Amino acid sequence: MAGKDAVKRFNSQLAGQERNPRYVALALLRESTTSRIYRCVHQYVQLEVAIKEYLVNEEATIKGQPECAPPDLRHTAKFEHCADLYDSITLRVCNDTPYFIDPERRPLASSCRSRNEQIRTAARAEARVLMSITHPHLIRALDYFEIGQRAYVVTEFLRGMDLAQWLSEVERSFCQLPDTNIVIDLGYALLDVLQNLHSQEVTHCDVKPANVILDRSKRRPVLLDLGNAITESSKPASASAGYAPPELYRLAPENPIGPWSDLYMLSALLYRMVTAQFRPPLVATDRWQAIQAGHGDPLLPARIAARPGFTPELLLAIDSGLELDWIKRPQSVEEYTALLAR
Ligand SMILES: Nc1ncnc2c1ncn2[C@@H]1O[C@H](COP(=O)(O)OP(=O)(O)OP(=O)(O)O)[C@@H](O)[C@H]1O
Ligand SMILES: [Mg+2]
Repeated sequence: MAGKDAVKRFNSQLAGQERNPRYVALALLRESTTSRIYRCVHQYVQLEVAIKEYLVNEEATIKGQPECAPPDLRHTAKFEHCADLYDSITLRVCNDTPYFIDPERRPLASSCRSRNEQIRTAARAEARVLMSITHPHLIRALDYFEIGQRAYVVTEFLRGMDLAQWLSEVERSFCQLPDTNIVIDLGYALLDVLQNLHSQEVTHCDVKPANVILDRSKRRPVLLDLGNAITESSKPASASAGYAPPELYRLAPENPIGPWSDLYMLSALLYRMVTAQFRPPLVATDRWQAIQAGHGDPLLPARIAARPGFTPELLLAIDSGLELDWIKRPQSVEEYTALLAR
């Protein structure tokens, strides 16, 4: 959806709830398959915040059929039109196709309803963790609310860029590639926040460059996005290719998810920074299949693939974190830190 349309729809949703809405969106910062992130202002206290809106299936009818859009249609322009307009309009022509929006809001198919419940559970869990843990390297949540099916997490607004943007800029210009000090400082900052999460029985399950913001004003890396985290009430829903360990692809009792899973992801992030391969490391399942087929591990160890200048201890920690077998990895942040400090 175009940024302007998304902002308009967001603001009209909130205006429908409160006469003087607390939050007003100024811009759409990002849109992914699961959420939209808006830069907003808290009207009463004039504070800039970011609001993450979880995307859900809507109670819309497409082409007059009382059906819910299948997940692969959810983000096409056609369904977006239905989803966004169903409150105010019943018929819309989009790409020359008339779309009828059910004025009675027939119930969603039960598969979509339960999917929406999962999304809401993940949103609530993300808000609960972020509101209860304070850490200088963890994004701070300020509020949480729901409107109908939709869930919203309000966080501090961070000025700067995420590590994925930063890496693609430095990699494109091939200058100022991260040196050992940058990598070590970032590694320790993320280890510190992961240790804090793990001590509260939370596994992040989505450590990757796009989920780390380099906050310009406070000159610190900040971990965000607990939408995939495991807590007592939620399970991971996705696996970020190149960063996720095998156990996030194959949920099974013999492949448990735990602190070692975050350490795989952190190692994959550091691997990208120390090598000059300029892309996420190989997908864990592809590595696994190549090994099963007798071709050996196609991922070159960091101690061979790294650019010059990194310490053997750092490269060893990265390689141990990237072991496919969870039991061979460092099992805790303390074990990982001990490898780094040897
Ligand atoms: N508080 C914030 N301040 C500034 N930018 C933010 C903030 N929160 C998120 N962003 C930007 O929005 C992007 C997506 O945020 P987030 O990871 O929470 O959403 P997501 O839907 O889970 O994304 P993905 O599925 O790609 O991981 C981040 O990579 C970052 O660039
Ligand atoms: Mg994210």
